[in-house]
Amino acid sequence: MDFFDRKHIIITGGTSGIGKAIALRLVRRGADVSIIARRQSLLGQTIAEFEEHKARPDQTFRQFSADLSNWEEAQSAIETLTADAPPDVLINSAGYSHPGYFEELPVEVFQRIMAVDFFGTLYPCKLVVPLMIERGSGHIVNVSSVAGFLGVFGFTAYSAAKFAIRGFSDTLRQELKPYGIHVSIVYPPDTDTPLLHYEDEFKPLETKRLSGNAGLLTADEVARAVVKGIEKKRYVITPGFESTLFFWLTNPIFTFVNWYMDWVIAKARREKAQDGRQAG
Ligand SMILES: NC(=O)c1ccc[n+]([C@@H]2O[C@H](COP(=O)([O-])OP(=O)(O)OC[C@H]3O[C@@H](n4cnc5c(N)ncnc54)[C@H](OP(=O)(O)O)[C@@H]3O)[C@@H](O)[C@H]2O)c1
Repeated sequence: MDFFDRKHIIITGGTSGIGKAIALRLVRRGADVSIIARRQSLLGQTIAEFEEHKARPDQTFRQFSADLSNWEEAQSAIETLTADAPPDVLINSAGYSHPGYFEELPVEVFQRIMAVDFFGTLYPCKLVVPLMIERGSGHIVNVSSVAGFLGVFGFTAYSAAKFAIRGFSDTLRQELKPYGIHVSIVYPPDTDTPLLHYEDEFKPLETKRLSGNAGLLTADEVARAVVKGIEKKRYVITPGFESTLFFWLTNPIFTFVNWYMDWVIAKARREKAQDGRQAG
C-alpha cells in the first residue's frame, strides 16, 4: 500500500505554486487532501483538478476559504476540516512576500508578511497539535525559504518572517518528538511560481543579482523533495543542490546539536517522570 494512501493531509496555500504541486503529488498517491486559501474560485478549480488525478474512487477532497493571518478564520478552517478526524499531515505552504530596500518598505509590509508567513503558520499548528497529541501521531511541515536561514538583500521583511518560522519549527520539533509527532522545515530556493513573478516586480537590482546565483526550481521539483522528506521523516528538507549546499555550509553541526539537545530533553523527562512516581 502507498505510504500516503488514505492519509488525511491539510495543505495551506494548496491552490497555487508549491502547495498545489505538493497536493497534486499526494492526490496521485491516494491521500485525502484538504486545502485552505483565500480565493474561492481557485479553491474550486483546484479541487476539480484533484478529481482528474485521483488514485481511487472514494478519495475525498475538501476546501476552506480563509485568511490564515486571522486567528478566527484559521480556527473555522481547521475546526471544519478536522471535524471527522485529525490530519495525519499538516503542510503550511501559504505565504506572501514583498521585497524592497528596507528604508523604502512601509511598516505595513513587515506587519502583513509576519501576519501571513509566521502567524499563518503558527495558527494551524496551534490548532492541530492538541489533536495530534491526543491521537499520538502526526507530521507537521512548515515551508520557510533559503531566506529563512540566510539573510538575503532586499528581504528584510520576508527573511525576518521566514527566520521566525525556523526558530518556531526548531523548537516545535523538540517539544513534539516525545509525543511521536514529526516536524519538518522546508527551505526552497527561488521557485517558478506566481509569488516569484510578483516578487520580481519589486526586487532591487542587488537582490536580482544574488538570486541569479542560486538556480531556479519548478514547484514540482520542490514538491518531490517535500514528499520524499515526509516519507523519510526528515526534519530539514532542502530542495535542490544550492539550498542543500548553503544550508549545510552555514549549519555544519546542526544534526549533532539537535541530537545532543534531544538527549538532554529525554533525560530531563525521565527525571520528571521519576519525581512524579515518587511524589505519587
Ligand atoms: N516561490 C519561491 O521562490 C519560494 C521560495 C522559497 C519559499 N517559498 C515559500 O513557499 C510557499 C509557497 O509559495 P509559492 O511560491 O507557491 O506562492 P504562491 O504560488 O503565490 O501560492 C501561495 C498560496 O498561499 C495562499 N495564501 C496566500 N496568502 C494567504 C493567506 N493570507 N491566507 C490563506 N492562504 C493564503 C494563496 O492563495 P490565496 O491568494 O487565494 O489566498 C496560494 O494558494 C510560501 O510560504 C513561500 O514563502 C517560495
